[in-house]
Amino acid sequence: IPVDPFDIVIFGGTGDLSRRKLLPALYHRWLDGQIPESSRIVGTARSEMTTKEYREMAREACETASGKSWDAKAWKVFEKLVEYVAIDATNPDADWPTLKSKLSANDHPCVFYLATSPRLYVDISEALGRAGLATPNARVVLEKPIGTDLDSAREINDGVGAVFAERQVFRIDHYLGKETVQNLMVLRFANMLFEPLWSRNYIDHVQITVAEDLGLEGRADYYDKSGALRDMVQNHMLQLLCLTAMEPPNHLDDDDVRTEKIKVLNALTPITGDDAKRLTVRGQYKAGVRGDEPVKGYVDELSSDTESTTETFVAIKAAVDNWRWAGVPFYLRTGKRLPYRHSDIVIQFKPTPHPLFGEGNDAVNRLVIRLQPDEGVRLYVQIKEPGPGGLRVKSLPLNLSYAESFTVRYPDAYERLLMDVVRGNLSLFMRRDEVEAAWTWVDGLIEAWDRGGGAPELYAAGSNGPLAAAMMMDRDGRAWFEG
Ligand code: BG6
Repeated sequence: IPVDPFDIVIFGGTGDLSRRKLLPALYHRWLDGQIPESSRIVGTARSEMTTKEYREMAREACETASGKSWDAKAWKVFEKLVEYVAIDATNPDADWPTLKSKLSANDHPCVFYLATSPRLYVDISEALGRAGLATPNARVVLEKPIGTDLDSAREINDGVGAVFAERQVFRIDHYLGKETVQNLMVLRFANMLFEPLWSRNYIDHVQITVAEDLGLEGRADYYDKSGALRDMVQNHMLQLLCLTAMEPPNHLDDDDVRTEKIKVLNALTPITGDDAKRLTVRGQYKAGVRGDEPVKGYVDELSSDTESTTETFVAIKAAVDNWRWAGVPFYLRTGKRLPYRHSDIVIQFKPTPHPLFGEGNDAVNRLVIRLQPDEGVRLYVQIKEPGPGGLRVKSLPLNLSYAESFTVRYPDAYERLLMDVVRGNLSLFMRRDEVEAAWTWVDGLIEAWDRGGGAPELYAAGSNGPLAAAMMMDRDGRAWFEG
C-alpha cells in the first residue's frame, strides 16, 4: 500500500548506515511501488558534493545491496528523487535556505533522519527549529545509541524534546523491524496454545542469544567507547526480552504495546554491587579463526596501541520481578567473533512432574524462535522412537521454516520502519521513558563493573565465548542452547 508523498532528509547521508541500510531501504520501497514519485530524498553531510556525485554514491550502495536483482533502468527513474545538500549542522551559517528549497512546498510529512553521532542530535534539532523546519508535519528519527548512560540520554531527550513533541520523535531500534521479531507478538498472541503456558508455572527459563561471527568491521572508534552492553543489550536484547515477557497489550496501538514493554523494564531486578560478579560475564575476543581464516584479536583491531577493557561479549542472568515471571531466569548472551551468526529466543519448559518413561528421560519441551538467519520456529516435543525395544522417548522438533513456507523477499528491517515513520506509526519505536528505563538498569550494571574492576575474560575468536559463561549456566544445572 503506497504511503502519502513525503520528504526525507538524511543527516549523515554519506555515512555507513545511509549507504548500507537507509538508501537501499528507500530504493526497495520505491521498487515495490510504495513511495510516490513526488517524494524527495535529500542526503546531507558536511562534505561538499554535487547531487550527481551523491546519486553515484547512492547507486553504488543500492547496487551492492540489490546483488543479482539490480535493475539499472529502474535506478535511472528512482535517482531523480535523490538530491544532496552540504550542511554542517553545527555551523550557525549553514545553508538551511538551500535545504528548504529542496523540500516540497506542500504539507507533506517531512522526515529528518539523524544518522549521525548522537552528540549532534540536539544541535541538529535546534538548528532545524531555528530554520523553521520543525513544523507539525515534521518527524525526527534518532538512531541508537541514544546517549551513553541515563544522564546523556536525558540530555538528548530534553534537547530534542524542546524542539519536537514526543509524537514527532521516532527512536529507532532496527530489531523491532525484523520480520521474526514482529512474529514474536503474533506467535504469542494469535495462538491459544502458548499463552496459558507462558509463565513461571510451566517455563523453567528463557535464553536470548544474539551471536555474531563478525568483529569490529571498521567501527573501532565507536565500539571501544561502547562495548557489547551498550551496543546490544541496552537496546536490542532488552527489546527482545520485553516482547518475550510482556503482558498482552489491549490493542496494537502505539502506546498500548510500549506501555506493556516498559512495565517489563521496570520489573527488571537491578544488578548491582557484588551481584554483578555472580550474574554477569564479560569477555573480549583474542586472535583466533573465522571459519578457516585466522583473524585478529580485538585490541589488534583498534587503531591505537592502548590496552582496552571493552567487552565484546556479555552474558547476564536477569530476573523479571513480577507475578508472571518470579523465579524464572532470563539468560541473555551476545558477542562478536563467536563461531556463527545466529539469534535465538529459547523458551525452555519445565520437565513433566512424573518420569513415566523412566529416569534419564530428562528431555523437555523447548520452543526455539530463530530470529536470524534460517528464520523459523521449532517446538521440541518428545516422541516414541520407533522399534520393538519398549517405550524409548526421543526429543524431536516440529519445524516451521520461513524459507520453506514463504517465497516472498523479506524486507530489511529499515524498510518497514522507514515507512512507519512516514505513516506516523510509533508502535515499533522507543518511547522516551522506555529508553531511560533501559539505561537505568544498564547504568547499575556498568557502575558495578566499574567498581568491581577487573578485565573481561579473553576468549579465542571463533570459540563459544568465555568459559565463565558456560559455567554460569552449569552452576544452575543448565546449558546454553547451541542448536
Ligand atoms: C547494531 C550494532 O545495532 O546491530 C552492531 O551496533 C551489530 O554492533 C548490529 O552488529 C547487529 O544487527 P543485525 O541486524 O546484523 O543482527
